[in-house]
Amino acid sequence: MNKIMNLVLLGPPGAGKGTQAKRLIEQYPLVHLSSGDMLRAERAAGSELGKKVTGFMDSGSLVPDELVTAVVISRIKHELSEGKKGVLLDGFPRTLSQAKDLDTAFAQIGAKIDAVIDLQLDTDLIVDRMSGRRSCSKCGRVYHMTANPPKDGVNCDDCNEPLLQRPDDKEDVVRKRLTVYVEQTAPLEAYYRQTGVLKVVDASLEIDEVTAKIQAELETIK
Ligand code: AP5
Repeated sequence: MNKIMNLVLLGPPGAGKGTQAKRLIEQYPLVHLSSGDMLRAERAAGSELGKKVTGFMDSGSLVPDELVTAVVISRIKHELSEGKKGVLLDGFPRTLSQAKDLDTAFAQIGAKIDAVIDLQLDTDLIVDRMSGRRSCSKCGRVYHMTANPPKDGVNCDDCNEPLLQRPDDKEDVVRKRLTVYVEQTAPLEAYYRQTGVLKVVDASLEIDEVTAKIQAELETIK
């Protein structure tokens, strides 16, 4: 399908937002924008922003809106100004304030959110997914050591580089991130249900099945 859409992937840590985003951009004309990846890139580059966000991220707190919103919205505007693709937002918005600023930004450029895919998953599965997650130290490709392991069990299938565990995937930090999700991000479900764009998907299914469910929801968008 070549329809241009702007989509949001909502869901708790470990629900599979990044995993599904990688698959969706192969099938739809979308640019994947992950706020977590943008912030990790700032940290890796040693920028001022990267230094400011480190403590928040490693402790499982959200980065304050004033540090993250402008960066993500400016990337969205840049990508949409190219005029060919929609955006697939992963991890943004995460607070009501971010959601309202996003609506304003889209309205300014005559665009809108076409669908918010809400990936729902129980806490026990979340902790299992986070503890099993590993990412390639070079390209960032994400694996799970039992559900989606690399072929040789150790190194990235694409780069042959070792896999690493994210510092915020340790169990105590995962539990903090879940609390933060319930308190600050889950209210976005009601916000987007009200505007009629929320599409709920069961994220406990196998990776291929989740992708198929999302595709079925996207096919219903006029
Ligand atoms: P971010 O990087 O956005 O993390 P997150 O939302 O917590 O999401 P994750 O990346 O942990 O999980 P995911 O849903 O993408 O799951 P994945 O596909 O990897 O944010 C990190 C931090 O940055 C935040 O805590 C905050 O500090 C800051 N931040 C970012 N954005 C911000 C914002 N907007 N405002 C403020 N602060 C912000 O899958 C997880 C594992 O499960 C993998 O191993 C995968 O292989 C496996 N898996 C996936 N799907 C399945 C399946 N169906 N079955 C079995 N295994 C599966």
